[in-house]
Amino acid sequence: MNFLAGINVALFAFVIAIPTMVQADAGEGREIYQKHCAECHGAELQGGLGSSFLDHVWNYGEGPRTIWMTVKYGIPNLEMPAWKDVLSDGEIKSVVGFIVAQDKNSALVPPPMPEQVKTEIYGLALEVLDDSLDEPWSIAFINKTQALVTDKTGKLYQMLNGKIQKDFIRGLPQDITNINQAGLLDVVLDPDYADNGWIYLSYSQELAKAKDEKRARAMTRIIRGRIKDGNWIDQQILFEAPEEFYSTTRHHFGSRIVFDEQGYLYFSVGDRGAKEQAQDMSRPNGKIHRIHKDGSIPKDNPFLNQRGAIPSIFSFGHRNPQGLATHPVTKEVWSTEHGPMGGDELNHIRSAKNFGWPEITYGINYDGNIISAFTEKDGMEQPVHHWTPSIAVCDINFYAGDLFSGWKNNLLVTSLKYRDLRRLVIEGDKVVHEEVLLRGIGRMRSVTVGPDGAIYVLVNEPSLILRLTPIVDNKD
Ligand code: HEC
Repeated sequence: MNFLAGINVALFAFVIAIPTMVQADAGEGREIYQKHCAECHGAELQGGLGSSFLDHVWNYGEGPRTIWMTVKYGIPNLEMPAWKDVLSDGEIKSVVGFIVAQDKNSALVPPPMPEQVKTEIYGLALEVLDDSLDEPWSIAFINKTQALVTDKTGKLYQMLNGKIQKDFIRGLPQDITNINQAGLLDVVLDPDYADNGWIYLSYSQELAKAKDEKRARAMTRIIRGRIKDGNWIDQQILFEAPEEFYSTTRHHFGSRIVFDEQGYLYFSVGDRGAKEQAQDMSRPNGKIHRIHKDGSIPKDNPFLNQRGAIPSIFSFGHRNPQGLATHPVTKEVWSTEHGPMGGDELNHIRSAKNFGWPEITYGINYDGNIISAFTEKDGMEQPVHHWTPSIAVCDINFYAGDLFSGWKNNLLVTSLKYRDLRRLVIEGDKVVHEEVLLRGIGRMRSVTVGPDGAIYVLVNEPSLILRLTPIVDNKD
């Protein structure tokens, strides 16, 4: 048994080593470039139909390994072809090595952020409200002038009239771990905030490190509290997994929170890197949960009477859901989740449904091996929409404001890897149109519609809070 496990580990290490050991032969890379890429990206790499490789902008993800995947699998809906059937993995490595080296040597400065962008319906005005945070993750509006913003590093800030206040909220939990995807994540207000002042947070909580552990174990935790005179007070724990479910990885925490119209609180927990556990009802990971806002379990939760099942589970078979939103018309919950390499999903969440991870998926492993031969199975839900290759889909919100009346009920979607903000037109359970609204600014982490109808986008790398408003409403 141990012997076999050893072999698996060795094989795995070998396979994933291939794309990373970029020891490119510059001559071969240049030749492949001129033969296959120059017609679109320019003989001098200056760009043309395809992007420039001299401006230090990587809209579809940076670093040799990610760029290698872009070249191998192409960019769907754009004219960047997949090269996997034309070039060998080694040839792709050479050409990627070549273009990355040219970009490094180029003295061009990246283009400045645009102040205006044209979209299909609106001209968009972009305003940078803040660029002072480390890694903004989520924003919740109290009213037109006040909001709360989480910074993944573990700080909760107040924003007043679009300005982040220097003094962050004191007294937040001390056990927030901020490594990789772990950190202080979502912030959401109680639907009756004006009356009760409750603020809901999700974060990656780490346990005290045991003697024999190299790294402390961590897990998603949901709390609520109030703010008084700049202090976090009245804290209550709403969801916390038993310690046996904590693990040392700092990936796949899920952690988005949303309320539906009846006041149920939903939150997501990613599979924590243990994909089979997404199908195991005795474990909280790989699930979307539903609780009352005081943390108690609703009497009609679907797995309440199933022996051994965690009672807060509402739906299962999820990989890493980082987007949750309620549909403005049907009032049901929708979610997005990160697939592996491909198979990022938009799902319409319903009680007791199995969304299939990892038994069915449109994605493949990062080492190129397939995860499952199946994209569908009886008793498992199909995504409403999937993105293959992955755009690293993050937050979603339906546009329900008045400022962009032509976008009413459209779904706004952020992408980390492709660094864009998208608009999806949805009819019933079908995406009938998809438009990229913004690109080339940074990794888009979250999108929120403010009480003023403006769209607020939190960006990472660089860290920005953006406000989007229409320039002219040429729809009416
Ligand atoms: C038929 C035209 C075409 C050919 C041929 C082509 N590309 Fe592209 N490529 C595109 C387009 C279009 C884009 C997307 C540009 C955009 O952002 O709108 C793109 C994007 C890319 C990107 C992503 C850049 C970024 O900003 O992240 C990489 C990398 C890339 N191409 C590499 C290559 C390589 C290497 C080859 C040759 C093996 C190649 N392309 C051949 C059209 C082409």
